[in-house]
Amino acid sequence: MLKTIIEEALNKQVVVEAQSSQVYLSMASWAETQGFEGVAQFMYAQSDEERMHMLKLVKFINERGGHAKVSALTTPPESFGSFKEMFQELLNHEIAVSESINSLVDISLQEKDYATHNFLQWYVAEQIEEEALARTILDKINLIGDDKGGFYLFDNDIKQLIPTDTLEP
Ligand code: FEO
Repeated sequence: MLKTIIEEALNKQVVVEAQSSQVYLSMASWAETQGFEGVAQFMYAQSDEERMHMLKLVKFINERGGHAKVSALTTPPESFGSFKEMFQELLNHEIAVSESINSLVDISLQEKDYATHNFLQWYVAEQIEEEALARTILDKINLIGDDKGGFYLFDNDIKQLIPTDTLEP
């Protein structure tokens, strides 16, 4: 059975993951309107992945005798200035999510909830990967600079970086 403090903290993380999915969906839509099909596909997949992160939490909370809540979300930005700004925003967002996961890990230890602590290790590993991926993409964008041809190739290349685990439960 989940302690109330853990249940509330996990439910807050449900909102964080749902909000991430919403932000990345907006990034995907913006990229699509700019004609960058590869970037759009990448961001749609990121959005799906965040939804999967959210569902994993929902199922865990309910399996442990808690009640996962579905909350209202905030409207994400509609446009992102440039791809560099958009991917910088993605990195900043992932850093904030990592901090949120870390504080959940802290709470699980304080409350001696080792099942939740163990469950959260998957998210700790996932955050390392997601931050690394965002940094890799930003490095590529910095190398391209203002080269339009470079961006065309980048739009094609980014399809290779689409995570393959977006359909996992
Ligand atoms: Fe689920 Fe990228 O945080």
